[in-house]
Amino acid sequence: MTKGIILSGGWGTRLRPLTCTIPKTLIPVVNKPVIERQILLLKSVGVKEIVLAVSVMADDIKRYFKDGEDLGVKIHYTDEKQPMGTAGALKLAEYYLHDDRFFMLNGDEIINFDFHEMLDLHQKSEALGTIASMNVEDPSPYGVLIVDEDSNKILKFQEKEEYDPPEGKPVPMPVNVGVYLLEPEIFSYIESNRKISIEKEIFPHVANKQKLYNYSINGIWRDVGKPYDLLEGNILLMNSLIKESKDKKENLIAESVQFEGNNYIIPPVTIGEHVILRYGCKIGPNAVIGDNVYIEKNAEIKEAVIFKESFIGERSKIEKAIVSNNCRIQEGVVLRGNEEALVILASFVEVLKDVQLITPDNRHITYCHHEIVRSNLK
Ligand code: GTP
Repeated sequence: MTKGIILSGGWGTRLRPLTCTIPKTLIPVVNKPVIERQILLLKSVGVKEIVLAVSVMADDIKRYFKDGEDLGVKIHYTDEKQPMGTAGALKLAEYYLHDDRFFMLNGDEIINFDFHEMLDLHQKSEALGTIASMNVEDPSPYGVLIVDEDSNKILKFQEKEEYDPPEGKPVPMPVNVGVYLLEPEIFSYIESNRKISIEKEIFPHVANKQKLYNYSINGIWRDVGKPYDLLEGNILLMNSLIKESKDKKENLIAESVQFEGNNYIIPPVTIGEHVILRYGCKIGPNAVIGDNVYIEKNAEIKEAVIFKESFIGERSKIEKAIVSNNCRIQEGVVLRGNEEALVILASFVEVLKDVQLITPDNRHITYCHHEIVRSNLK
């Protein structure tokens, strides 16, 4: 029976300050933690037993998923005192995974594609591992796969630091999307008790032995590395879920949402459970609003992700921003990012009345958890 392991123990430094209070893999995408969405995908292909390789903020993740019963799967946790690297973390799960093939996922990838096809392809090949990939215009920020088109074998697995584009110009290439199907034989390549990276030390070696195959995904992928990726990933997944919905919806709006009076909704938007919208609000396009958010009269939100339980005051305007859990945005506040530079508020931030936070250039404006913002920044 195919099993699964999800790596969930990194520091998530590039997403600070959001990851100071929420582990990166519990950051919501379209209102569910990234790894909850991954667990549901694994379940859809018949996986019933999953290891969560936790380390940093492990207790928060254990408290959320417990033994997995609520999601209908069995969840085990590894005991990793210090982050051991992506292969070191896998080695610690050998006890659970030594007897059959398993999916391995980086817990920070927003993905939506059919795992059945990948499993079929892997079963038909002699591969020790199948690596899911996607063709991208500029592969330089990612791990690059050099693939033999006839056999689909991966000839070389190159981490971003090693990839050298021809004539210095990026050309479209398949890149590693952080989803693998592996045979237990992989464990014989990994030393115990050492911090090791699977991408840098194990896969290049196995690829040289011609035992890795490529699977080109037919679906969506975005790495939740940096804040703008998180905003874009939310929008990408929301569109993908809307497209899949049976009744041709334009938005994902929970039934428990209360609209008090007229509001103007511009698709696509997601509005979570028990959200209250007072009258005259303008929401969308590209807004994802979490559960239990309260939105006061005439507020405007577009191109933004609001996590759960925040308060958005009257006439406030939010655009190109990420607002974490339990924030309080008072009346008349403006949060406005610029292109890929966002306004980012960590949990429990309060922004006082009429304050304007407007990104002046290509740097994010960020506030750490529990800060009170009293003055403008433009
Ligand atoms: P940055 O600090 O921003 O680079 O993020 P990160 O720490 O999450 O690192 P990276 O993006 O390389 O990690 C990819 C995936 O592997 C994420 O899901 C991490 O949680 C996970 N991961 C990275 N290092 C470790 C580790 O040492 N142990 C475990 N268990 N998971 C890890």
